[in-house]
Amino acid sequence: MIESAQLLKVRNLTVDFPSGGRLLHAVRNISFSLSEGEITAIAGESGCGKSVTALSLMALAGKDASISAESEIIFFDRESGRQTDILKADRKSLQRIRGRKIAYISQDPFSALDPMYTAGWQVAEALRLREKKAGRQEVLECLRMAGISDCERTASLYPHQMSGGMRQRTVIAMALALSARLIIADEPTSNLDSCLQDEILALLRNLRDSCGVSILLISHDLNLIGKYADRIIVMHAGQIVESGSRTQVLTSPVHPYTKALLECMKEDERGNLKSIPHSMTDPYSTFTGCAFYKRCCEKTDECAIYSPEMKTLSDGHCFMCRCKEADNE
Ligand SMILES: Nc1ncnc2c1ncn2[C@@H]1O[C@H](COP(=O)(O)OP(=O)(O)OP(=O)(O)O)[C@@H](O)[C@H]1O
Ligand code: SF4
Ligand SMILES: [Mg+2]
Repeated sequence: MIESAQLLKVRNLTVDFPSGGRLLHAVRNISFSLSEGEITAIAGESGCGKSVTALSLMALAGKDASISAESEIIFFDRESGRQTDILKADRKSLQRIRGRKIAYISQDPFSALDPMYTAGWQVAEALRLREKKAGRQEVLECLRMAGISDCERTASLYPHQMSGGMRQRTVIAMALALSARLIIADEPTSNLDSCLQDEILALLRNLRDSCGVSILLISHDLNLIGKYADRIIVMHAGQIVESGSRTQVLTSPVHPYTKALLECMKEDERGNLKSIPHSMTDPYSTFTGCAFYKRCCEKTDECAIYSPEMKTLSDGHCFMCRCKEADNE
């Protein structure tokens, strides 16, 4: 098997938000890598740290965020051969990476679009940023690649004149115009109906196939993730608790939290969706033992005392549970 080239490496990322003399621990010492041309998904319940992780990749976690000195986010630029630590980069290097190398698509495309300008103008501006000729044909080509059939007409529309799906496609066209190497799609379809959700995610996957762009898909919807992701990272209470290929995580989950999330996709005997007991660990707490202890149906007494460490199976499947064996080859 040919290993894909590394695009981004995150090591020991810890993000806190100080508030009222306390620290909210949003992301707790996580490490992972993204490869060229892969769709990686981050899954987990609301508040587990998905968006803070994604924003940190662009050094956009916000001015209130306190990122530990040990945290490292290395971006590998194949074109220039340069490696940049995003968290230590100067403004010029950051500007080069943000937008041009990494594009961010959020659930609210309005926030990425300027209400004062037409879709065509905004795509042309993205092309100019890439120092490329922004002729009408190039603009229309980006809109067409983003799945907009009537590109001539759409190019002349302002954001408020477009549907939600069209706005999201325009933001994707801007990412294409920039020729971004990584598209971070943070719940990109949560405001769209299920048909449009599929269309947008199929579009992102086609772009990966045709342009080799990597995609980081953030979602709490394991159905969607199961359809589109190559690799899956599962987060709980700011930690990564399991990661691996789609099949490893969805077909042979190891961590009790992943198993519980998968159970939540099924209905109980009354037709209601199941849920995981208790809420996620308080983000302000500095717990001892396993963060999933209270909610776990496989726990032992020792889980409340000893913190689990990340273990790796021979096939690369990783999980953080002290009650599972790493060497079950
Ligand atoms: N700017 C901020 N200031 C203070 N706390 C924040 C800030 N941004 C996020 N948080 C907190 O950090 C934790 C992780 O938030 P994050 O937005 O990453 O969750 P998420 O997994 O993306 O959730 P959702 O699925 O609801 O989008 C939460 O407890 C959240 O309240
Ligand atoms: S370490 Fe213990 S409490 Fe934590 S997930 Fe594993 S079995 Fe459950
Ligand atoms: Mg979020």
